[in-house]
Amino acid sequence: TKDWNGIDQVVLRNPQGASARISLHGGQVISWRNDLGLELLFSSSKAIFKSPKAMRGGISICFPQFGSCSSLEQQGFARNKIWTIDDDAPPLLNFDIRGKSFVDLLLKPGDEEPKCWPHGFELRVRVSLALDGNLAVISRVRNINGKPFSFSFGYHTYLSLSDISEVRLEGLETLDCLDNLCQRERFTEQGDALTFESEVDRVYLSSPNCIAVLDHERKRTYVIRKEGLPDVVVWNPWEKKSKAMADFGDEEYKQMLCVDGAAVEKPITLKPGEEWTGRLELAAVPSSFCSDC
Ligand code: BG6
Repeated sequence: TKDWNGIDQVVLRNPQGASARISLHGGQVISWRNDLGLELLFSSSKAIFKSPKAMRGGISICFPQFGSCSSLEQQGFARNKIWTIDDDAPPLLNFDIRGKSFVDLLLKPGDEEPKCWPHGFELRVRVSLALDGNLAVISRVRNINGKPFSFSFGYHTYLSLSDISEVRLEGLETLDCLDNLCQRERFTEQGDALTFESEVDRVYLSSPNCIAVLDHERKRTYVIRKEGLPDVVVWNPWEKKSKAMADFGDEEYKQMLCVDGAAVEKPITLKPGEEWTGRLELAAVPSSFCSDC
């Protein structure tokens, strides 16, 4: 299918009725629904589906930078580009295709690539929907250059929630983190699961490969599994910042939380010919069925 700017979208479905929709604009997952047709990813009602900016919501691919520390655009350029479907993707290790529907997307540098990041790369993303409705996004970055390059990476993931003040995030307690709201000051998170009552923008370092977001009101738990992505960025703009964003509703911060599997603190360096893989897998399960990570 196409969106109203004529940009292609791919829809994945499983036999139970779950679905995922991916836009070639940014390789962004813009919808993920369970078998009851309920949307699991947040998208803003004010989202702008127009180049060159990424739509506010879903899962956007942030490469070659996550955040805004260099002269590159915030969260990198990959999410703002038009990707292609890769019919000839090389085999992906440890990916069992049985029962899955999936699509392979590709981004390569174009002629107008930023002078500040003049590297030869291939970024491949496979989005897959499994029989149980789980969504996986697997990215591969390959250096096709004669020289090494470094990058950071993140899956900017907007989870749809009933009420942020009722949400618990488990798996990040006692970790070291950098607080983007305080000049990246480093501190250690205390004891219990994270709860939310004000703006948050933190990078949790060396996190476990499985974390969980519990939505009590909906009795739903998001289980987030990741590989190759040591950090987790947690973001909610809260009231004041929401009002300052043109593509975000004033009250919408209550219905979302970004929990982003990422490699931020230590950039990844690839020598010529080398490849890096970063995997994210999301499950949305009834809270009563949720086993701990
Ligand atoms: C978070 C960052 O991941 O994304 C925040 O840590 C940022 O600093 C937020 O404000 C939203 O970013 P953007 O570029 O999608 O508006």
